[in-house]
Amino acid sequence: MRESNMDVRSSLLVPLLLILIRCFKALADEHTHTYERGEEVVLWMNTVGPYANRQETYNYFSLPFCQGKKEGISHYHESMAEDLQGIELEFSGLDIVFSKTQTKLEYCKIENLDKDKLDSLKYAIKNNYWFQAYLDDLPIWAPIGEFDEASNSYYLWTHRKLDIAYNENRIVDVNMTNENKVKLEPGVSIPFTYEVNWKKSSAKFVDRFDKYLDPSFFQHRIHWFSIFNSFMMVIFLVGLVSMILVRTLRKDYARYSKEEDMDDLERDLGDEYGWKQVHGDVFRPPSRPTLFASLVGCGYQLALVTLCTIALAFFGDLYTERSSLLGAAIFVYAATSPVNGYCGGSLYARFGGKRWIRQMLIGSFFFPTLVCGVAFLMNFIAIYYQVARAIPFLTMLAVAAICFFIILPLNLVGTILGRNLAGHSDNPTRVNAVPRPIPEKKWYMEPYVIALLGGILPFGSIFIEMYFIFTSFWAYKIYYVYGFTLLVYVILAIVTVCVTIVCAYFLLNAEDYRWQWTSFLSGASTALYVFLYSYYYFVFKTKMYGLFQTMFYFGYMGVLSVGLGIVCGTFGYIGTNAFVKKIYSTVKID
Ligand SMILES: *[C@@H]1O[C@H](CO)[C@@H](O)[C@H](O)[C@H]1NC(C)=O
Repeated sequence: MRESNMDVRSSLLVPLLLILIRCFKALADEHTHTYERGEEVVLWMNTVGPYANRQETYNYFSLPFCQGKKEGISHYHESMAEDLQGIELEFSGLDIVFSKTQTKLEYCKIENLDKDKLDSLKYAIKNNYWFQAYLDDLPIWAPIGEFDEASNSYYLWTHRKLDIAYNENRIVDVNMTNENKVKLEPGVSIPFTYEVNWKKSSAKFVDRFDKYLDPSFFQHRIHWFSIFNSFMMVIFLVGLVSMILVRTLRKDYARYSKEEDMDDLERDLGDEYGWKQVHGDVFRPPSRPTLFASLVGCGYQLALVTLCTIALAFFGDLYTERSSLLGAAIFVYAATSPVNGYCGGSLYARFGGKRWIRQMLIGSFFFPTLVCGVAFLMNFIAIYYQVARAIPFLTMLAVAAICFFIILPLNLVGTILGRNLAGHSDNPTRVNAVPRPIPEKKWYMEPYVIALLGGILPFGSIFIEMYFIFTSFWAYKIYYVYGFTLLVYVILAIVTVCVTIVCAYFLLNAEDYRWQWTSFLSGASTALYVFLYSYYYFVFKTKMYGLFQTMFYFGYMGVLSVGLGIVCGTFGYIGTNAFVKKIYSTVKID
C-alpha cells in the first residue's frame, strides 16, 4: 500500500520536476551554457568608457546608440556583487540564434544626428571609448570609433561582425570585429548592421577562457624569480631570529647550570642590561587597548578571509564567472566574523578591559565602515558623473543588513566565547605596579622609526606580485595565477613575523617595553609602502585621468592598503607575542 502510494507521488513528482527543470533551463541557458539548435543566444551590452580608465564606465546606451528590435527578454541583476562592481547588462536587441548564420542585416538606425548626440559621440571617440559586451558570459571589448587626426574627422563603427565557435551544444569562442566606419556629421542618419557567423570547433568548453589569460604577461619566470628572492630573504630572517632566540636561551641555560645557588633575583638581573630589565613592564597592556584589540581581531579575520578567498580562487577557477570572487569574499567575510569577535574580545579581556561591548562594536565595524565610507564617497562622485559604478540604493541596504544582522551577531557570539574561554592572562612574568621610566635612546631606536623601517622587507617580498595584481585590477587582464598569490601570501606572513620579532628585540634591548604597538605597526607599515607604490603605479604605469578615476583609484587603494596593514600588523603581533612570551618565560621570577 505504502509502496504504491509512493509510486503515485513520485510519478506525479517526476514529470513536474522535469517541467520545472525545463522552464528553468529555458530561462537559464547562460547558467547551464548549453543550447539547442534554434535557441536564442543573448548578446548583453554592458558598459562604455575610456580605455585608459577601466573603472570609469557608463551605461552603453548612455551614448546615443540604438537598440535592436527584438524584445521580450529582460535581465535583472543576479548578484549583489555584480551590482557592487557596476555591471549593468542591457539587452542589445540583436536576434541571434544558436548555430544559425545571419548575413549582414540592419538592426537599427540613429536618425538625424543632432548636435547633442554628435558632440557626445565625438567626445567619446576622442577619448578612446571602448564598449564591453557579454555573449554567453564571454566578454567582448571593442572600440566605438576612430579619430582621424589628419582630416580632423570622427568615424563611428557601425557594423558588428560576430564570429562564434561552438562545440556540440556549447559556445566555446566569440570574436567581434568592427567594420564599416561612418563619418560623423550633423544631420546624418547612421544605420547599424550586424552579422553572425557560426563555425564548428573542437575546442573544449572548459578551456574557453584561456584566450583571455595572458601567459606572456604573467610570466612564470618572473614569478619564480621573485619567489626565489623572497625565499632567500625568508631563510636569512628565520636564521637571524633563531640565532637571537638560541643566544638568549643558551645564556640563561649556561647561567642557571653554573650558578644554581644564586637565587637572588635582583642581583641576577642587576648584572644584566637590556631586555631582561623590563620584565616587570613587558606585559603591561598597551596604550589604547580597545583600539589595539579591535585591530588585531579584525586582522585575524581579514587574514583568514584573504587566505580563504585566494584558496577558493585557486581551486575554483573563479574568473570564469562575473564578479564571483567579490561575492565569495563577502560571504567568507561574513562567515568568519566570529573569529574577529573571539580574537579581539579575548585579547581585550587579557588586557583587563572592561568595556567589552564598545570594543566589540569597534572591532566588528572598523573595516566595514571604512569600506562603506569610501564606497559611499565614490557613489556620490559616480552619481554626479553618471558613471555606471553607482551602487543602487537597495544594494546598499543589503550590505547594511548583512553588517547588522549577520556580522554583528556573529561577532557577539565570538566575543562572548573569547572572553570566557581565552580571556585570562597567561603572562610568564608579573606586571609591576609602577611603570619603569623609559631611558633615553638613539633616534633610530625610537618605536616610530623602527615601525617605519619594519615594513621595508615585507614590502620587498611582495611588490612584484603587487604589480601583477594591480595590473589585473586596473587594466584589462584577468588574474589567474592564484597559486603564486598563495605562495607570496605565506612568504609575506613569514617575513613579517621575522622582521617584527627582530624589531621588538631591538626595542626591548633598548629597555623600551612598548613592543605591542611597535610590533603591530612595524608589520603594518608594509601598507604604507604599498600605498606609495600604488602612487608610482598610477603615475608611471597607467594612463588614467579624470577626477572620478583618480578618486576611485586612490580611494580603493587606500582601503586595500589599510586592510593589508591590519593583516601584516596582526601577523607581526602574533609572532612577536609568541617570541616575547618565550624569552621571558626563561626569566625565573618568584
Ligand atoms: C577569433 O580570433 C582568433 C585570433 O585571431 C582566432 O584564432 C579564432 O579562431 C577566432 N575565433 C572565431 C570563432 O572566429
